[in-house]
Amino acid sequence: MVEIFNPATTSTKGLSEFAPDSTAGRKLVFYHASEGKPLATPWQVALTRSKLLTELNLPEGYILDCACGSGIQLGAHMAILQRPGIGVELDPLRAQASAVNLQSIATYRNETDAERMQQTRIFASDGRDGAVVCAALADHFSLDTFPNIALLHLDPARPRNSRTHGLEEMAPRLDEVFNGWAPYLSEGLHGPAMILDLSPRLTHEQRLEVESLVDAVWKDIARTWVWTSRGRGRVDRLALWLGDAATKGIARRFVRIPPSIAEDAHVVSGGRQLGAGDGLPKSTRQPPRRGERVSILDAALVESGLAETWLASVSKSEVFTWGVVEGRRPQIHHAHPLRLDNPMDRMLVQATGRVVALARMELRIETVDQLVELFLEHDIGKMTVRVPLSPEIQPKVQGAIDRQLSRRHGRRNAFLAQQPGDDMLLVCITE
Ligand SMILES: C[S@@+](CC[C@H](N)C(=O)[O-])C[C@H]1O[C@@H](n2cnc3c(N)ncnc32)[C@H](O)[C@@H]1O
Repeated sequence: MVEIFNPATTSTKGLSEFAPDSTAGRKLVFYHASEGKPLATPWQVALTRSKLLTELNLPEGYILDCACGSGIQLGAHMAILQRPGIGVELDPLRAQASAVNLQSIATYRNETDAERMQQTRIFASDGRDGAVVCAALADHFSLDTFPNIALLHLDPARPRNSRTHGLEEMAPRLDEVFNGWAPYLSEGLHGPAMILDLSPRLTHEQRLEVESLVDAVWKDIARTWVWTSRGRGRVDRLALWLGDAATKGIARRFVRIPPSIAEDAHVVSGGRQLGAGDGLPKSTRQPPRRGERVSILDAALVESGLAETWLASVSKSEVFTWGVVEGRRPQIHHAHPLRLDNPMDRMLVQATGRVVALARMELRIETVDQLVELFLEHDIGKMTVRVPLSPEIQPKVQGAIDRQLSRRHGRRNAFLAQQPGDDMLLVCITE
């Protein structure tokens, strides 16, 4: 028996987990169940994706989320695209929470009477089984035909506390959902519109594996990979947008969610298909010279394989040498300053500056005095250490530099960088 929840009439009875969404200015309170909060998509992330979907032409019909959890992503899609929704969730309490949350979103937006809300239902059922869900919906509303499904969103649960996991551990599994829903999805111009919300930890090989699972059902369907980051160099979400949800000719997108929910996301688009490689630049052992610029980029941007596309947009016919590609501080050097007038572009750089001095010495508490003398020769008043140091040493060295510089009268901001495998310290004046 499939249990069906109507958002308009579902109560919170029996639901005990709830929390205001911090990304929604705490104005939206969401219910969760069976410890579902960590699985839920933050409202701002959900909204950003739904807004990107408005740039595309989706076929008519329902938004389907066949593993809808707390229903937050489903609610955002429905609100922004003004469509009715079908949510499917295996855990009945979470299905109930989803229905409550859809109603809260509609109340928040003053849309409880909208026709699309009256057509919306959550099913406590197996999200792999399109036939059962479509039949249950048709029966529930006494329809002669199955509903049109405009978009399939799938955010499978992944094993917790595991740094890596195989695709077969996703619940529900991608291949099972594809096979269970393929006959029921509306075919747009470029194939059915689908968003697969995947773990940012998938390796390049696993991403290619996902592509082959897709190709097994929809050969050569259009595809755009989307890396989403909320900052601090972390990829928060990795998704594959397919068919009419893909942007034709765009293989990759990097979406930087801005600090405030009122601002639009910063999107970098381009890159090469994943089949052509992971898109990561190649590092070379060629240290920068005095006068050159050193820039430390956002690690998530680099991970998306779009750093070079972005660099081309903030520089003119420039050659970039990659000293560090992976890790928290991807580092390049180049001849001219980057054009970072747009604050959104600024967010994609941890530090950028001109090399004014090279110091061949080890960075230790014992060498700080000597370095501070060098900093003062360059009128430096604030120096940020951006050299990889052990977590015990880093704060001590930074603290010693701060204390010494605070007693002197330097005026310029600077940072200290280093090329891997080289003991030369690069003193860079921030630009
Ligand atoms: C990562 S959560 C989805 C979170 C959701 N995007 C949100 O915004 O709240 C994945 C959900 O899939 C559910 N699930 C796992 N297997 C399923 C299946 N076969 N059918 C339906 N739901 C399933 C889990 O119970 C879990 O709640």
